[in-house]
Amino acid sequence: MSKLQFTAPKGVKDVLPEEQPFWHLIEEKILNIVKAYGYKRLILPIFEDTGLYARGVGQGTDIVEKEMYTFEDKGGNSITLRPEFTAGVMRAYLQHGMASLPKPVKVWSFGPVFRYERPQAGRFRQHTQFNVEALGEQDPALDFEVMSIAYQLYDELGFKNLSFQINSIGCPECRPAYLEKLKEYYNEHTDEICDDCKKRLKTNPLRVLDCKKAQCQNVIENAPPISKHLCGECKEHFSTLKFYLDGAGYKYQINHRLVRGLDYYTKTVFEVWAQGIGAQNAVCGGGRYDGLSQAIGGPPVPGVGFASGIERIVLTLQAQQDIEIKEQKPLVYFAVQSEAAKPFVVQIVSKLRRNHVPCIVAFGSRSLKAQMREANKRGVKFTVVTGEEELNKQKVHVKYMEEQKEVELSFEEIVDFFVNKNNDD
Ligand code: HAM
Repeated sequence: MSKLQFTAPKGVKDVLPEEQPFWHLIEEKILNIVKAYGYKRLILPIFEDTGLYARGVGQGTDIVEKEMYTFEDKGGNSITLRPEFTAGVMRAYLQHGMASLPKPVKVWSFGPVFRYERPQAGRFRQHTQFNVEALGEQDPALDFEVMSIAYQLYDELGFKNLSFQINSIGCPECRPAYLEKLKEYYNEHTDEICDDCKKRLKTNPLRVLDCKKAQCQNVIENAPPISKHLCGECKEHFSTLKFYLDGAGYKYQINHRLVRGLDYYTKTVFEVWAQGIGAQNAVCGGGRYDGLSQAIGGPPVPGVGFASGIERIVLTLQAQQDIEIKEQKPLVYFAVQSEAAKPFVVQIVSKLRRNHVPCIVAFGSRSLKAQMREANKRGVKFTVVTGEEELNKQKVHVKYMEEQKEVELSFEEIVDFFVNKNNDD
């Protein structure tokens, strides 16, 4: 075969029909769960003003510095393909006066997000997020609620060893003093740390705790933990959240190094890690962002939420060998033995489909043997062969594929027979 002229751009993924049963299962669970928790769907544009992310996600973050798909549109406006949902959700909340709705305002979204990252297993330049946000309330019970949504989704999907990584990264009251302590400590260890961390100390000091380079690990291990520097309110918030998590029996590890890659977080941050998705093991990430609204020019609006990458959920499911996904197969295959029978078969198939019976008709003019091969490959339960003889008698034989048996039906009986069989399924 000659080399294809076009393939998908680097780092993006086609989700082919054979992978759809996984997506379908996940989407089904999401719809049930958001309903139980009272979250309503919010569909947002795929692009926003670049400034929304620069101010919302933060200038010093990898996302804003290196990863955004930004371009000038024909009107000269700087536009960015969304690299995440949260800033857009807050923008929509402020724009549509949602503050007047009963609080908290609870919304979920689903769709593609774009980040120019180095592609790897589980890391794409376009991925799909299930995103959940609850706005307008500071209560740690709400942090627990959004975490429960993530937990329930993964639990129902059968994830093994499910547990949260959690941390509190403080608030504008207590974090500045902690950052001073952290910088002081790092300044005593400058010869041991990588060049990136030297830069981070100036632009985004909290993120030194997140560095993956081997040479920085020892310094990170011995860094002062933020937990010892939280103000009374942040401490109280974190311990109430842990109390709720304990009460629900959710497993968690307190991870002092968990700081997250977006600037808007305050107090709670959390992730769920899973096996089977390569080096990128976070299947979801989220937290509280009580300062985001002000960062984008709004009044104070507390909020908490998380997002989960669907591709990473699928990879986790695929890595767990014992998950059984039932693929939807058509019920019946209609083979055509003579051209004269085709109009009848086309009409009967269309009647069955109007009754929601999944069925297939043989296209083209292949031998009966080839048609039966196709029926077998498609895994149908029944086949019906129609030719001259069946037309003359106005009767067909229905062949049961697994049981080696046949029944005879008059033309009038066909629809009812398959509608009933479909209902039995
Ligand atoms: P995030 O941690 O940047 O958080 O992304 C959330 C999730 O999206 C990750 O845990 C991962 O499952 C998936 N993900 C991220 N980048 C990629 C990628 N390149 N390829 C595949 N999957 C990826 C946020 O986006 C926040 N807005 C979450 C949030 C909502 N915080 C509060 N509310």
